[in-house]
Amino acid sequence: MAGTGTAHMRSGQDRVLVVDDLVVRFPAGRGQTVHAVSGVSFDLLDGETLGILGESGCGKSSAGRAVMQLPPPTSGSVLLDGTELTGLPPRALRTRRRKMQMILQDPVSSLNPRRRVKDLVAEGLSIWGTRPSRDQVESMIASVGLDPAVVWDRRPHELSGGQCQRICIARALMLDPRVLICDEPVSSLDVSVQAQILNLLEETKTRYGLSMVFIAHDLAVVKNISDRIMVMYLGKVCEVTPSAGLAASALHPYTRLLLASVPEADLGAGTADRPAPGVAGDGTVELPSPLNPPSGCRFRTRCPLATARCAEEEPLLREVGDGHHLACHNAGI
Ligand SMILES: Nc1ncnc2c1ncn2[C@@H]1O[C@H](COP(=O)(O)OP(=O)(O)O)[C@@H](O)[C@H]1O
Ligand code: SF4
Ligand SMILES: [Mg+2]
Repeated sequence: MAGTGTAHMRSGQDRVLVVDDLVVRFPAGRGQTVHAVSGVSFDLLDGETLGILGESGCGKSSAGRAVMQLPPPTSGSVLLDGTELTGLPPRALRTRRRKMQMILQDPVSSLNPRRRVKDLVAEGLSIWGTRPSRDQVESMIASVGLDPAVVWDRRPHELSGGQCQRICIARALMLDPRVLICDEPVSSLDVSVQAQILNLLEETKTRYGLSMVFIAHDLAVVKNISDRIMVMYLGKVCEVTPSAGLAASALHPYTRLLLASVPEADLGAGTADRPAPGVAGDGTVELPSPLNPPSGCRFRTRCPLATARCAEEEPLLREVGDGHHLACHNAGI
């Protein structure tokens, strides 16, 4: 049974990735369960970028990792180019998953500190038994905006955070992926470097014909790079909408709250973490726990529009505009 509705799923188009009713639960001791992702569905068209937006702890990384089968979800389906990944034997999974690469938040610690740039960039392909030529490695390093002559023999600690993220992107590209899952790829970087890495990802996407899932807690970061934005709250999808015109068209009270936390001038660039009143981190709101999520609409304990129905009945995603889907009983009617 789909938890949040699937009205936003498309059909008959060139979908690279189809994720259906993804559930991720973790055991939490004393018989308790963390409900990290509770019935999330989304699809990704060829060449599209889907932004996944939500506060820390809402299940974005768990969803991204479950799509990669690292580890596999508790339940749900993940179709990559038409092949179901869940339940594949390990070897077949490894072969298929190669077409999907992940870029993580902390580039420095995702690189082996003992290895040099030339090996770091080559090793993804080497693991598959194809040692890339020096020319191939050099041109990949150059294509992520670094000078191979300068960084060739360097180790991660001799590079900046932004340079390390460029190396991570080069490593992923060596495997000729179809899909990049970027999990907060600029959150650990200085604001001045964030825009450079976002530009690089954008260029890379076009040059290599990739599709992208771009996860972030910061609307200003996700807005420009994404074609569509999927907003998550406590393991559920609240709203899916084209990113163009988002500030005017977003309807879900949670999306509105996120928008209120971003000064308009910043909607075009990266921002530091700056919570608004009512948004987690400002100290005024006690967040509900994924150990025991609220009944009905999970946002109801913070929602200015909540009514009795919201505690009883889960709102399902319904279409409210062209490509715009909303899970709320009271907004958009
Ligand atoms: N391996 C794990 N074991 C137990 N709980 C986890 C694990 N990974 C994540 N969680 C919990 O699942 C929820 C969602 O986490 P996460 O997916 O990391 O959210 P986000 O990426 O949006 O910050 C959080 O409550 C987090 O504490
Ligand atoms: S369903 Fe109810 S509680 Fe949930 S966002 Fe809508 S109005 Fe608020
Ligand atoms: Mg995360």
